[in-house]
Amino acid sequence: MAKILITGGAGFIGSHTADALIRQGHSVRALDPLIPQVHGKERQRPAYLHPRVELLEGDVRDPDALKEALKNVEVIYHFAALTGVGQSMYDIRDYVDTNVTGTALLIEALLKERHPLKRLVLASSRAVYGEGSYECGTHGRIYPQGRDQSSLGRGEFAIRCPICRRELRSVPTEESRPLNPLSVYAWTKREQEEIVRFAADTYGIPVTILRYFNVYGSRQSLTNPYTGIISIFYRKLKAGLEIPLYEEGLPIRDFVHVSDVVGANLLALGAPLPWGREYNVGSGETHRIGDIAQALGAAAGLPAKLTKTRDFRVGDVLACSADLSRSREELGYWPKMKLAHGLREFAAWADAASTGGAPPSGESSEPAEKEREELQRFGLMGTSARGS
Ligand SMILES: NC(=O)c1ccc[n+]([C@@H]2O[C@H](COP(=O)([O-])OP(=O)(O)OC[C@H]3O[C@@H](n4cnc5c(N)ncnc54)[C@H](O)[C@@H]3O)[C@@H](O)[C@H]2O)c1
Repeated sequence: MAKILITGGAGFIGSHTADALIRQGHSVRALDPLIPQVHGKERQRPAYLHPRVELLEGDVRDPDALKEALKNVEVIYHFAALTGVGQSMYDIRDYVDTNVTGTALLIEALLKERHPLKRLVLASSRAVYGEGSYECGTHGRIYPQGRDQSSLGRGEFAIRCPICRRELRSVPTEESRPLNPLSVYAWTKREQEEIVRFAADTYGIPVTILRYFNVYGSRQSLTNPYTGIISIFYRKLKAGLEIPLYEEGLPIRDFVHVSDVVGANLLALGAPLPWGREYNVGSGETHRIGDIAQALGAAAGLPAKLTKTRDFRVGDVLACSADLSRSREELGYWPKMKLAHGLREFAAWADAASTGGAPPSGESSEPAEKEREELQRFGLMGTSARGS
């Protein structure tokens, strides 16, 4: 049984991973400063965190905290990060500092302490791909660049073949394709990958990179206005508010339940994998955002007031879903949770966690509006005049 450190271990994915590791007999330490955006102003140890998790309230960017956290550790899950795509587009320094510098300092500490490790697992993201993969009937596989703001402004949401201009079909995204990050968050995740891959090649650190798709489930912060679309939709449903669907609710995502993500995290611990290799962690299913909002309403037993808008956010992608061939073959990863069941699990938890619709931490009553206002202020949101 191993001593395991989870950076960001008091968060959504970290705490579920800790539960599963403890069930397997491992001992778990979390290094987490309980940032207010995720944990509320009180910054208290979350009630959901397993009592046997040793929580060190510290920052991954603090070398002393890192040194303390690394004592006797054999395995690290590096989850500490700021995670809001929209927010990353203007709070650039914070994102680079936490995600990139934090990862660099972790590797530096491992090197300077000459710390032997059995495994370092990095939580990366599907965001590193940018737009997902596409097919043109004539020109085959295409990896489109991001959509530019003026096309979006003209209502051209669709992705077209750069050669024949025909509309492309979205297909599952494979790990080996070129990366094309379209937001600051995405490029910090790519940089994290680069740093740990370098550490694998140069210092022989046994690294596994997991690219999570859109993760949902219980414990996903209900107060963070910048991330977790299912949490954001839930709050609106609960408050009886209208849900505005950007790009008419047509964007396609791969929503993977946290229990499947935890499954992949455990597999990454044991499997004999080539160092530095990347694996997609998705559900393998695709859903339009509008359908997700509808399904969440059904799961929560709340009427969904959906409004299709022609608003768009700069940096958003139209479609991205996981090709799981490599993960199945090398990691043995087979996701199990069906969306309807996973949404019911989330809704039951969220209902209990949000007393009478009030946010658990006493944050502002409608946090998603905060992101919208900020994006508008920085010219990172637009509305298209007409359809494509
Ligand atoms: N949730 C998703 O859909 C998703 C998708 C792709 C990738 N990821 C990645 O998975 C990881 C975990 O995400 P999550 O959804 O659990 O987010 P989360 O916000 O619930 O958890 C992140 C935790 O990191 C902590 N943290 C923030 N700054 C820190 C710092 N400087 N030092 C140490 N800890 C710090 C926070 O307090 C929080 O508890 C992140 O790296 C994220 O980029 C998440």
